[in-house]
Amino acid sequence: MAPSLQFLLFLSGTLLFMQTAAEAAACSDCFIHSRAAYYPNSDANGTNTGRCGYGSFGATLNDGDVSTVSDLYRDGVGCGACYQVRCTNSYYCTDKGVTVVVTDQGSSHNTDFILSRRAFGRMAQTTYVAASLLALGVVDVEYRRVSCSYPNKNITIKIDENSNYPYYLGFVIWHQQGRRDITAVQLCETQNFVCKLLDRSYGAVWTTTSPPSGPLSLRMLFTDEDGDETWVVPVNNIPNDWKAGQTYDTGVQVNS
Ligand SMILES: *[C@@H]1O[C@H](CO)[C@@H](O)[C@H](O)[C@H]1NC(C)=O
Ligand SMILES: *[C@@H]1O[C@H](CO)[C@@H](O)[C@H](O)[C@H]1NC(C)=O
Repeated sequence: MAPSLQFLLFLSGTLLFMQTAAEAAACSDCFIHSRAAYYPNSDANGTNTGRCGYGSFGATLNDGDVSTVSDLYRDGVGCGACYQVRCTNSYYCTDKGVTVVVTDQGSSHNTDFILSRRAFGRMAQTTYVAASLLALGVVDVEYRRVSCSYPNKNITIKIDENSNYPYYLGFVIWHQQGRRDITAVQLCETQNFVCKLLDRSYGAVWTTTSPPSGPLSLRMLFTDEDGDETWVVPVNNIPNDWKAGQTYDTGVQVNS
């Protein structure tokens, strides 16, 4: 008896699924199909109010090549991650596409990415073509995670304006680098080595009530896609008289 059409469809569906799963496992560099839109605002840069907590810094981070993501937000763990995004219509788009940094969460029309208008246009071959691309509004794209690179920038701590010395400390991590996620943050006293794990309040914002005192040694746990974890301990400490609104250069770059 000949196999039924349904069975054949089932079989090819299964094979396709197995192939996709195998590809995903074999190659973390592979592009994934999705869709991208762009912010409807008139400003070419990103937003000042992104859910990652970067504030106005997030609008111009990476020269304004930033993005809102939906599932890739991952409860805030995805904040600061970089993605190469390219549209798939070769008539309009380059192979290189654009590299964006995640600064916000949201979606529209089943998109994984809502790019800044500037980033969306940069997927096009020329500025002339960019106008046509922008007119499409939503396009098919491929994306993959890439390493974030900020030449001449160290990872920097921006103390939240709501912080209240010495009772409550919150900060945002600026210029997260490399391809790994920051999955935990600790502050340690440099003298007594008392450490305290911080809470991810939301996005890239880490907070604690009653922080340890004295100059504080920051420790950031970097986790790669295989779950391998490394604590990175910057050379610079946060001074004991830290102030709300101040930025502190950690003195480290993380390139992998
Ligand atoms: C967008 O960001 C760029 C790069 O930081 C900046 O030069 C430009 O002034 C910004 N544009 C607006 C409209 O804020
Ligand atoms: C980064 O930190 C190093 C010290 O580790 C320092 O020499 C350098 O000036 C810093 N870079 C910037 C751009 O602040």
